[in-house]
Amino acid sequence: MKEIKLSPSLLSANFANLQDDLDKINRSEADWLHIDIMDGVFVPNISFGFPVLKYVAKLSKKPLDVHLMIVQPEKFITEVKELGTMLMNVHYEACTHLHRVVQQIKAAGMQAGVTLNPATPVCMLADIIEELDLVLLMSVNPGFGGQKFIPHTLQKVSELRELIERTHSHALIEVDGGVNLETAPLLKQAGADVLVAGNAVFKAPDMIEMVHQLKNI
Ligand code: DX5
Ligand code: ZN
Repeated sequence: MKEIKLSPSLLSANFANLQDDLDKINRSEADWLHIDIMDGVFVPNISFGFPVLKYVAKLSKKPLDVHLMIVQPEKFITEVKELGTMLMNVHYEACTHLHRVVQQIKAAGMQAGVTLNPATPVCMLADIIEELDLVLLMSVNPGFGGQKFIPHTLQKVSELRELIERTHSHALIEVDGGVNLETAPLLKQAGADVLVAGNAVFKAPDMIEMVHQLKNI
């Protein structure tokens, strides 16, 4: 079975000592760094913005996987690109003209990901899957770290894997929310390629060891 990619979520980091946490992620086997941007409108929480992320981007040696939980994400494509972002994720539910937004992200030189909330079915992506580099399935309702994994996500991962194979799409499957040592093996088995982990990594007594364990499940 292929190796799973791990993208620790900055949202659960210690913001009083961000440099120390980023240092540990840099030294770990983590593949990417997951950045959650929230606007208090699309989700009931506000996280951090570009003035903070500019410094995070300088300190991180891992490619940035940016998850925008905001309305009208197309307004910030330039700012996201300027961070040196590898992959920009926008929510299906936040984009009226999703096809256009995906094209704009790619034209800016980033990989394009589309995120689905827990109640949005995988079939909504049938007409755009071939354009996507990644699909992010939310396994909690977005807005907060430390929530409980929604088991139905496992079925969505299998459905998405089928859709990707049927259409010969190259999209990766990423899962975000409640990922830990219990849920990670189930997600890998179901066909996930990338796992996001916030609390499981940043609240672990030994972050580097936890990244190692999650990657080697
Ligand atoms: C939730 C965010 C997640 C969050 C995951 O809205 O998108 O990335 O940080 O945190 P855990 O892994 O603690 O559920
Ligand atoms: Zn996220």
